[in-house]
Amino acid sequence: MCGIVGYIGNKEASKILIDGLAKLEYRGYDSAGIAILQDNEIKVRKYKGRLSVLEEKIVDEELIGKTGIGHTRWATHGAPSDVNSHPHANTTGSLTIVHNGIIENYIEIKEELIEKGYKFVSETDTEVISHLVDYFNEGNLLEAVKKAVSKLEGAYALGVMDKAHPDKLIAVRKDSPLIIGIGEDENFLASDIPAILKHTRKVYILDDGEMAVIKKDSISLMTLDGSPIDKEILEVDWDVEAAEKGGYDHFMIKEIYEQPKAINDTLSPRITSNGIKLDDIKITKEELEKINKVYIIACGTAYHAGLLGKTLIEKYVKAPVIVDVASEFRYSNPFIDENTLMIVVSQSGETADTLAALRLAKENKARVMAVTNVVGSSISREAHDVLYTWAGPEIAVASTKAYTTQLVSLALIALDMASKKGTITKKEYEAIIAEINTLPKKVESLLKEEEKIKEIAKDIYIAEHVFYIGRGADYDVAREGSLKLKEISYIHSEVIAAGELKHGTLALIEDGTPVIAVATQDKLYDKMLSNIKEVKARGANVIAIAKKGNKEIEKSADSVIYIPDIIDEITSVLNVIPLQLLSYHVAVMRDCDVDKPRNLAKSVTVE
Ligand code: F6R
Repeated sequence: MCGIVGYIGNKEASKILIDGLAKLEYRGYDSAGIAILQDNEIKVRKYKGRLSVLEEKIVDEELIGKTGIGHTRWATHGAPSDVNSHPHANTTGSLTIVHNGIIENYIEIKEELIEKGYKFVSETDTEVISHLVDYFNEGNLLEAVKKAVSKLEGAYALGVMDKAHPDKLIAVRKDSPLIIGIGEDENFLASDIPAILKHTRKVYILDDGEMAVIKKDSISLMTLDGSPIDKEILEVDWDVEAAEKGGYDHFMIKEIYEQPKAINDTLSPRITSNGIKLDDIKITKEELEKINKVYIIACGTAYHAGLLGKTLIEKYVKAPVIVDVASEFRYSNPFIDENTLMIVVSQSGETADTLAALRLAKENKARVMAVTNVVGSSISREAHDVLYTWAGPEIAVASTKAYTTQLVSLALIALDMASKKGTITKKEYEAIIAEINTLPKKVESLLKEEEKIKEIAKDIYIAEHVFYIGRGADYDVAREGSLKLKEISYIHSEVIAAGELKHGTLALIEDGTPVIAVATQDKLYDKMLSNIKEVKARGANVIAIAKKGNKEIEKSADSVIYIPDIIDEITSVLNVIPLQLLSYHVAVMRDCDVDKPRNLAKSVTVE
């Protein structure tokens, strides 16, 4: 997830671009850059670090020009660095592009272009686009861009500027957001509305497969095959603050709604027609065969994701897995040697305890694999193998999209290991991949339950204590639900393995106590029904999550949220959605600072 902007008009472009990028920094801030068309040349300035670094460096420079494009980066391919920053140019520097998205077939295209004599300077997937447009450019920029994008697989929102065509910018969209701002004698392109709201409230929202030729006094919209499009102008009535949150009240709810896309972005480049391909997981079949112990180490929500990793690795790779929180693990006496694999999970890639656990493992010669959301983070640099979650920046302190993308990443790792080791049949491997592929759509359908969940929240927000119960993978996701509720609503919540209730905690259940029961494991469903009856008999207000069709549960629970049918192993990706929405609405009803809960920080870089 990156942010792009473009301007063409009568004003100085650099200031407008920088202001626009400042409003898009929530989309990533690993580096920032602008390209300005000045005296028939394109001047590019781009630097690693936040936008302020770029601003400081260009303060004394005469960047004068009325046309330009800009970018703020969330690194995916290639670590944050000046050279990997956008805009990316062709070899002569006559054209530049900014890109948000991921080009899945960039290695193939890069190899073909290298054969044709093109030289690459960055490690990015994006650079192939500037060379590809150059390759097809015979004087008609629009045709060249069309031909170039016809070769691309993946997601892109593009802004293209060519010094031979100083009167226009070209914008193209597929699977990454892109809007065109309509001004008076000036027009804009941007990843999101806040970037241009200071200048205009009139926008076109491009759909997938659409492009625009943007001049200062005209905008032509067309499909990729050149057919003109007639689009309605959207009049934006949000204020700037709401616009930064995409019209949502909080980043947390925005990020909850971003999950179908985040899951899809994390999965789709890795699931090919020949099975799972994890480019940065280099561990070989031979190396895997030597591994006799697997640890999954993480903190908080990432630890909860790790619990699913254990279930999947034990089931498909047939290897024992120990999951531990990093702060405990690092002071225990673990058995680590060269036959140990440690998988660390961390959204930020900077959590001090997780990093310490990783270093401890490396000192003892273990192989370390990381699942992280931040390219160039300490954990990503120090691990031997890395699988990035492509969730985009998570701003709300309470983790949502990082968790679901960690879950699917761990599923990919487990299946990749199982297929390398030959511990899974082809049929089973293909069947679970087919199920995983349905997740983005199923998450989307669950988000439609928000109104119902809001109603349920009305019963819970006044509670002093809430209990979560579940069995197997449902117990693991219940832990995440419980953490989510307590951290943002400050209600005391506790999670109990449902079978453990009668060994103590049942004593706390009284009339009206809310109990959230996750009951989506087919083989444990009947047991969960009994546990629900146990708490119901003590007066609990039971809110259950069950698979569609399991209607029996309605006899004992006060309300039921149904999830679409899915294999037991990956229900957590769906179950967590109502749990997140419930916590969010309870916290809003209690007037809590949802995005910045008291006493907590997004990245915990101290012990
Ligand atoms: C809770 C939450 C935290 C983090 C934990 C680890 O919503 O976000 O529990 O999961 O602090 O952080 P990372 O994943 O950055 O290592």
